Amino acid sequence: MPIDQVAISPFDRGFLLGDSIYEVIPVYKGKMLAHNQHFQRLINGLHAIGIEPPYTPSQLADICVAVLLEDEAAQLIYIQVTRGNEQIRKHRFPIDCAPTVLIFPMSFTPSINENHPGCAAHLQDDIRWQRCTIKATSLMGNVLAYQQLYIDGVPNDEALLIRDGHVVEAPSSNLFMAKDGIIFTPPIDNILPGITRALVIDIALGLGLEVWVTNSLEELKPVISIDGQAVGQAIPGKIWRQLLKSFQALKGCEA
Ligand code: PDD
Repeated sequence: MPIDQVAISPFDRGFLLGDSIYEVIPVYKGKMLAHNQHFQRLINGLHAIGIEPPYTPSQLADICVAVLLEDEAAQLIYIQVTRGNEQIRKHRFPIDCAPTVLIFPMSFTPSINENHPGCAAHLQDDIRWQRCTIKATSLMGNVLAYQQLYIDGVPNDEALLIRDGHVVEAPSSNLFMAKDGIIFTPPIDNILPGITRALVIDIALGLGLEVWVTNSLEELKPVISIDGQAVGQAIPGKIWRQLLKSFQALKGCEA
């Protein structure tokens, strides 16, 4: 329905108490990316806080597809499921309360491409609540992290949040680090199990495994399968390509 016809009660617990779960699903050329993983995380989050999921993943998919048909330029789908409206404000667990579901398309300007100059990051204490695996809309700690960047005059920089002496996450992103050819990322025991993180790990696993043989005649020869089993993506890999290039530079250097 048109946004100006949407009516959500001020007594909705999502509004009054931040008692709700949300998802943000990227949309590329009208199609959602990894929507099943997003729906599953939504359902996991609802179970974790005792809300009976109002829709199955396939019902959610149908609704989102219908929403996307209404807005072909959409680049994101936002879903929020609150515990509902009890017509009063009470913290205690409501017995008879049907979830409120809000789904809308969003656009955004993708700012990252291969020419991105990189951003500065700043360490901050992680002041968020302690159950960060749950994608709850009560995001005060995350908001204040960005507010601190704003106060510090660096609103476009990134914050890296420290808990128990470890950097665990950014306020709305997961974190990766590559060192000596090894990719590190904090474990998801108490951070948001990011869908993008999982996709990137899959890609890295696919890219990461490379085998090559070396000798004076053939230099570096890439191996793409062993006993019929693919190595990585079964194509010569990036690291091999870089090494081969560097190896060429060695030639003719000797006296
Ligand atoms: N944020 N960690 C936190 C705290 C997040 O809020 C998000 C996503 C992520 C990355 O998750 P994913 O790869 O599934 O988007 C990690 C969304 C985009 C948001 O709050 O708008």
